[in-house]
Amino acid sequence: MLFEPFTLGRTTLGNRVVMAPMTRNRATSDHVPTDIMATYYGQRASIGLIITEGVAPSADGAGYARIPGLYTATQVEAWKPVTKAVHEAGGRIFAQLMHTGRASHLDNMPAGARVISSAAVPLPEPIYTDSQGPQPATPPHALTTTEVAAVVQDFVLAAQNAIAAGFDGVELHAANGYLIEQFLNANLNTRTDAYGGSAANRNRFALEIAEATARAIGADRVGIRLSPHGAFNGMGAFEGVDEQFLELARGLGALQLAYLHLVNHASMGAPALPVNLPSELKTAFGGVFIASGGLDGASAESLLVSGAADLVAFGRPALANPDLIERLQNGAPLNAPDFATFYTPGEAGYTDYPVLVA
Ligand SMILES: Cc1cc2nc3c(=O)[nH]c(=O)nc-3n(C[C@H](O)[C@H](O)[C@H](O)COP(=O)(O)O)c2cc1C
Repeated sequence: MLFEPFTLGRTTLGNRVVMAPMTRNRATSDHVPTDIMATYYGQRASIGLIITEGVAPSADGAGYARIPGLYTATQVEAWKPVTKAVHEAGGRIFAQLMHTGRASHLDNMPAGARVISSAAVPLPEPIYTDSQGPQPATPPHALTTTEVAAVVQDFVLAAQNAIAAGFDGVELHAANGYLIEQFLNANLNTRTDAYGGSAANRNRFALEIAEATARAIGADRVGIRLSPHGAFNGMGAFEGVDEQFLELARGLGALQLAYLHLVNHASMGAPALPVNLPSELKTAFGGVFIASGGLDGASAESLLVSGAADLVAFGRPALANPDLIERLQNGAPLNAPDFATFYTPGEAGYTDYPVLVA
């Protein structure tokens, strides 16, 4: 089933393979997309759906060096060659909206930006900066209740900008310890207002962003990524985590979002998900379900055949194999990813992975 077309909202994917979002830090230091990004994504357009690297929805969300944004007219223009390259090659592309929240350093961010989170607790890990190498993360400002509404609006504007730049939709990054998960996670979110203190309150920020972006660009153009039990960026499981995420999935399903994309980082050393949680989340959501994490052709195919997933996402294999679809079809060996060039500027380890020679 991997190579069968799939209808996702108002668009049709050529196959059921998804390129998982991967931060590659090839934008300018001002967070503007570059020409080599059009080459990179265009090379991978035979994948049914490309989800871009995390894209900052606002200056406050641009906490990593050289990640692209979608909050200025210059950025919108610079994304157009990227979406054009993918569309001209027959592909589809969603922008992943990633607000880094407390996973940020001010040196990486535009002048006047602030590091924000649900609580005034710094990320316990360093953040890489181009100016001084790894540095302690900038301590965040805990958003006030009224400030939260402005951040929801930042996501709405970024989603509208994504459509203006030619994207087929957006994925809300509510996983991996970035801002939205900083509200979901009870280990960090100790708020006592409407955005903390109960599962429903911790879910409120994610649901408000989902509802507002869906209203702005259409629910069928808004997907979301979740990582319950994820440990990245100082998160980790908490009491009631499964029940909270199931409630969240039901709420997202009621909004009829385009898809729910589940992260499973067990293959990268993260705690394994409870065995029934993926299927419970899929049922609770009730719409298109994307599985990801450590997949190969055989395991991806079996997830589709068993009905455990509707689409299957590949991260590192897509990074290292521009012709991933052709290789999966032929059972050809895959290029290995080069970790040393994951986040470095320039074309090396980015646009120069070889394709199969005919
Ligand atoms: C270099 C790199 C960058 C990543 N950046 C992101 C990101 O920006 N957003 C995100 O949701 N996940 C990110 N991930 C996680 C991947 O989307 C994916 O979940 C992970 O690589 C596991 O899938 P795989 O085993 O197929 O590689 C990144 C992974 C890698 C290797």
